[in-house]
Amino acid sequence: MSSNSTPFHNKSLDSTLRPERWDDYVGQKTVKENLSILIKAAKERGQSPEHLLFYGPPGLGKTTLTHLVAKETGNQMRVTSGPAIEKVGDLASVITNLSPNDILFIDEVHRLNKSVEEVLYPAMESGSLDIIIGKGPSARTIQLELPPFTLIAATTKISLLSSPLRSRFSGGVFRLEFYTEEEVAEILRRSAKMLAVNINEKSVFDIAGRSRFTPRSANYLLKRCRDYAQVHKKKVIDLSVTEKVFSLLGVDRVGLTKADRLMLKTITDNFGGGPVGLSTIAASLSEDRGTLEEYNEPYLIQIGFLERTPRGRMVTQKAYEHLHENPLPENESLFEV
Ligand SMILES: Nc1ncnc2c1ncn2[C@@H]1O[C@H](COP(=O)(O)OP(=O)(O)OP(=O)(O)O)[C@@H](O)[C@H]1O
Ligand SMILES: [Mg+2]
Repeated sequence: MSSNSTPFHNKSLDSTLRPERWDDYVGQKTVKENLSILIKAAKERGQSPEHLLFYGPPGLGKTTLTHLVAKETGNQMRVTSGPAIEKVGDLASVITNLSPNDILFIDEVHRLNKSVEEVLYPAMESGSLDIIIGKGPSARTIQLELPPFTLIAATTKISLLSSPLRSRFSGGVFRLEFYTEEEVAEILRRSAKMLAVNINEKSVFDIAGRSRFTPRSANYLLKRCRDYAQVHKKKVIDLSVTEKVFSLLGVDRVGLTKADRLMLKTITDNFGGGPVGLSTIAASLSEDRGTLEEYNEPYLIQIGFLERTPRGRMVTQKAYEHLHENPLPENESLFEV
């Protein structure tokens, strides 16, 4: 199994359906309200908003929200990411090239290395950059004054962020939540309009129910239904289309993919239902631990199929019942993907 076995990950689909207006960003009400006040207050004072951190599972709208905040403030946005900033020099060149009031977006901020983080602290706090030039006794520090800017960072793995870094997001640390079924339905109706496809309400809710309460997954599933309807010359996406598409994709009634089911089945069949450590599960599945932790696990926990205990992961009764009622298809074996 590889990370590619979870096609919902695919970020390249995002830009076409990404909301361009604050009002089109569905849900996350509390986060939106807080941000609105923060942006408005900063605007009234003629300042840039303070630094913000968005976290939560993939596909819930962190990048989209950052674009919208930039739009609301009317400021220019620069985009980079943790892995792109390898050295202190990379950060220095990004930051010293900012114009006053720019928004600097650092995606996957948990992947910044320690030495870069330490240079980022004073830049966030006091608007200056301390750079050491030379080595040994002749080394000296020069301090560069920076223009005012807002750092917005996003991460799927808040636990990997050091607490000094976390505490410097003075504007707030916001957790994005899974969406409700009704919110996902609203996103799907808007997406269907943008893609110019007809879909009936029953199918909207069929997709929403299998979307892992995640907009990216919902849009991905809608697009696959659109493809199927187009190829089979169906004018409307109805349940006959969605059911066929989901069976082809191996997405079950509650949105579990083959990878999720294999993860649960490994724990039940090989480890007596748990508790078992995530690394052991990953090794047993030949899967990357990060993928399980970032993508599979949050949703399984959200729907009450998996529990995280101090001694490892445990499959719940609810998951046993689901697996019993929806057994793995014959050909769904552990090592054949
Ligand atoms: N609140 C929302 N309303 C409508 N559509 C949304 C919303 N949030 C996300 N989307 C849709 O889902 C797609 C994925 O969102 P986005 O790229 O912002 O997720 P992300 O949290 O940044 O994910 P990752 O952690 O993988 O970077 C967007 O392109 C957009 O089409
Ligand atoms: Mg993103």
